[in-house]
Formats: sequence, C-alpha cells, structure tokens
Amino acid sequence: MSLEAIIFKNGKLRLLDQLQLPFTTTYIDIETIQDGWDAIHQMKVRGAPAIAIAGVLTVAVELNKQNFQSVDQIKKFTFQSLDYLVTSRPTAVNIGDAAEKIKQFCLSLEKEVTDPNNYKLKLTEKMNSMLDEDVATNKSIGKHGALDIIEKLSGQEKAKILTHCNTGSLATAGYGTALGVVRSLQEMGNLEHCYCTETRPYNQGSRLTAYELVYEKIPSTLICDNMVGLLLSRQKISAIVVGADRVVANGDTANKIGTYQLAILAKYHNVPFYVAVPTTTIDLNKRTGSEIVIEERPSKEMTHVKDIRIAADGINCWNPCFDVTPADLITGGLITEHGVFKPNELESKIREILRV
Ligand code: MRU
Repeated sequence: MSLEAIIFKNGKLRLLDQLQLPFTTTYIDIETIQDGWDAIHQMKVRGAPAIAIAGVLTVAVELNKQNFQSVDQIKKFTFQSLDYLVTSRPTAVNIGDAAEKIKQFCLSLEKEVTDPNNYKLKLTEKMNSMLDEDVATNKSIGKHGALDIIEKLSGQEKAKILTHCNTGSLATAGYGTALGVVRSLQEMGNLEHCYCTETRPYNQGSRLTAYELVYEKIPSTLICDNMVGLLLSRQKISAIVVGADRVVANGDTANKIGTYQLAILAKYHNVPFYVAVPTTTIDLNKRTGSEIVIEERPSKEMTHVKDIRIAADGINCWNPCFDVTPADLITGGLITEHGVFKPNELESKIREILRV
C-alpha cells in the first residue's frame, strides 16, 4: 500500500491531515467548498500538485451533492468555486493552472452536452482523472531525472541525493516529483543514500519526507537545514533535487524557503542542482522570479511546535514560506515529464511541446 494524501471515491473526498503526521494518520472529510479552502489554507493538504487536485476535487464533491437545473448553473457554480479556491494559497501555480483547464473543459463541453446530469457526470469524470494523470506524470519525471543523474555517475558509483521540503506521495497524487526521482533511482538500483533537510519552520522534511523515506525503506538520513554546508564539504553528494511551486519563463524557481541557499551551496561545491516539476508548475505568463508573490505565514509556525512556545515571547518574526532561486543556479536542469531542460531552453521547449 502506498501513502495516499487524497482519496476520492463515490463522489466523496477525504484528505490525509498532514498537520497530524507523523504521529497520527487521520483523514478528514471535505464536504463543502469552504472545507476545501480551509484544508489547503491551513496546510492540512500541501505541496503544489496536491493543492491543485484537492481544490478541483472539492468542487467535484459539491457538484455531486447538489441538484442543478441547467448546464449554465453548473458552469457558474464551478467557475465561482474555482476562483475562490485559487485564493487559498498564492505561490503555487498548479491550482490556477488546473482551474483554467477545468474552465476550458466546461466551455468546450457545453457545445456537445446540454443535459445537466450528463454534463455534471462528464465534468466530474474529468476532475477525477487528475489523480491518475498526476501519478503518470510523476513517474515520468522520476525516470527522466534518475537517468540524467545516473549518466553523471562514474563507474559503479551509486547516487547520493539531498532533497528539501516534501515532494513525495504526500505532496502529489502519488509517487512524487523530486522524491519521485529518488524513488526511481532506488527502483533502478542506483541509489546509495538520500539526505533530507528538516525544512524549518513547518518541518515538511522531518515530519513528512522522513516519514515517506522510512515507510518506503529508502536508505536515508535527516539533517537540519543549517548542516547542508558541512555535508557538501565532507560527502560527495551526486545531486540536490528539489520540487517547485512556480517556475517562470526564464527558469527562476519559487520553492520552499531555504531552496535558494541550497542552490548557492551546490554551486560553490560543484554539486548539480535540479528542480523536478510537472509542466503544470511552469508559468510562462511571468517572465522573472521578481513577479512571483511569496506567501507569508503566521509567526506561530516559527515560535511554536505543537502549541509549545520555542522562541522568546515578544520577538518579531518574518515567516516567508517560499524563496526564489535564480535560474543560473539550476545547474543540473529542470526535470519535467517530457525530459530534462536547461533553464535557458525551458520556455522554447515547453512552448514547442505544449503548443502554447
Ligand atoms: O508549503 P508547502 O508544504 O505546500 O510547500 C511545498 C513545496 O515547496 C514543494 O517543494 C512544492 O510544492 C513541490 S511538491 C511536489
């Protein structure tokens, strides 16, 4: 059995409450649009692809529950709900991309289907298909990334990978992006070890990635975020592989806070730095990283762990949730489901492949 962050069965949506991990496995039922928005905003479900899928399936839940008199009513409800859900977290582009695709699907569907029940059925089927598509995309990312890394290994050497935040089954519909590359290396027999950072302040690394690595029996070690410099100076790390919340046209990449400093350390130590992303994370409407909105989270995430204060009372806090890594630090490349691209060829390749 693999870890499932999102379960959608018989029109019902259940999300694994990631705030409770790794201590308790609890699923929450999503019954309304507001439930879905809250779960995303409070980070009960998180990770760019998982946020998008959870958002869209939240709309599917309400569509299944309600009776609509016309296609127009369904369309209006779907558009309004998606517009609201997109506001739940600002940095990850995937939910906006998914909302746009669903809207386009609605518009083309209304040309063929006029019966509201049939329209609703086709629309919810389309929404449901996102789960399988995401797993297939991630497996392809994993394969492309693993092969690129293996190509750079010498002789019988196996890969030692460092990753940041959580980009695995919990952050996607399954398998994962950057962690999918680690899984692929393991499946191909080419992984020696995976290091994961703690990822302060929300601890996605120590709570979630470490949980997935242990669960999958992948040889792995947890380090604090401030140990990366020493690790790279003492160990031969084959590659750093991270995920992303938004990659813009010039290759600048928004990802979990701390990614930028990892990329600088990687450059200094000559370690290839890769970003693993589905093409749904690539935003060609923005030219450079300076246009990306960086989400800022409540200071309580820094000052407390499980309601226990760990910082001096009264201190001011700044808690940006993401940072932007300049494209020229992404030395290994951007691993997509269509192949590995250098940042300076990303836009032309993606436009060619997706015909956009
Ligand atoms: O704040 P989070 O936990 O949603 O941030 C997650 C990340 O930054 C991931 O690296 C990114 O979403 C890619 S997940 C495949």
